[in-house]
Amino acid sequence: MNLAYFSENSILPLVITPTEGESKKETLVQWIADNKASVESKLTDSGAILFRGFQINTPQDFEDVAKAIDADLKDDYMGTSPRDKKSEYAFSASELPAHYPIMQHCEMSFLPSAPRRLFFYCHVEPEYGGETPICDFRKVYQDLDPKIRAEFEKKGVKHIRNYSSPNEAARSGFQLKKWTDLFHTTDKKVIEEKCKENDIICEWKANDGLRMTNKNAGIKEHPITGEKVWFNHTQVFHISAAADEYYRIHKRQRRWETFKTSMFLELMTWYKKLTKNPNEQSMHVTFGDDSEIPDDYVEHIQEVIWKHMVIQAWKKGDIICIDNFSTSHGRLPYYGPREIMVCWTS
Ligand SMILES: [Fe+2]
Repeated sequence: MNLAYFSENSILPLVITPTEGESKKETLVQWIADNKASVESKLTDSGAILFRGFQINTPQDFEDVAKAIDADLKDDYMGTSPRDKKSEYAFSASELPAHYPIMQHCEMSFLPSAPRRLFFYCHVEPEYGGETPICDFRKVYQDLDPKIRAEFEKKGVKHIRNYSSPNEAARSGFQLKKWTDLFHTTDKKVIEEKCKENDIICEWKANDGLRMTNKNAGIKEHPITGEKVWFNHTQVFHISAAADEYYRIHKRQRRWETFKTSMFLELMTWYKKLTKNPNEQSMHVTFGDDSEIPDDYVEHIQEVIWKHMVIQAWKKGDIICIDNFSTSHGRLPYYGPREIMVCWTS
């Protein structure tokens, strides 16, 4: 196998490609099994490993490679993206519309049970855009303004999510899915139990909607290296985050579509701030003491994230394995066909 990096300035991600005769999935699975300790330590150092040029053609092939790296795959999901099942453990990465921004995040950073590892697989190469950028959140932690970082370390964060009522006829694109679709049950007792397991406070609202809030440290130490990692969803959930993100997306893609969405999000953010209190927003994040995180803090965080973000175009058959405790992922808008799948561990 060939091991290399895209650039001499960055070890994210490590790129593994086959030498002649090594491109079969079975060969890759065997190679991973034979080099397990080395693969794991390289994953910890780099934050992500991209396997490119192998014969990976089906969700099952993907699952087999993911299992070779980490057999502890899971199929439960408490996040915010709509997902479809493709094999026992492979799911569509996100069914969110193509123009939606998915900001950088460590998967489910707001839960005590955030997955240790994530795997993404490119089944259908995007026609335009649709990259899954990744970012070393250890570097983000180090590079933040020390004053802002200290405030997060002192106060922690509170993540707020408001899920729609199952009785609601129509939802706008800015509302989260119905809580019955998130939990796949109508039994409120089951949901309350699940929330308790995950340190989530759940409140049933007068309109039968569900508010879930949870307080987190915001910074996490990597379980193996002890390095500090930016580990929260401020840049995803904060009310001003989507408009800030789209401003940067438009600067990169410069399409009429991205211009329109950018303008629309600016207006929507202004409208939402005016009409709903922070607790009622579909998603929002405040400091742990309930005080608001200033908009310019969010802008600064996104600026640091974009500085360290690695954006590579997908190639059919690519599999990327991500250390979710150090490295974030997101999605850039796209058009045309695109099919990316995901697996995750406990
Ligand atoms: Fe994600």
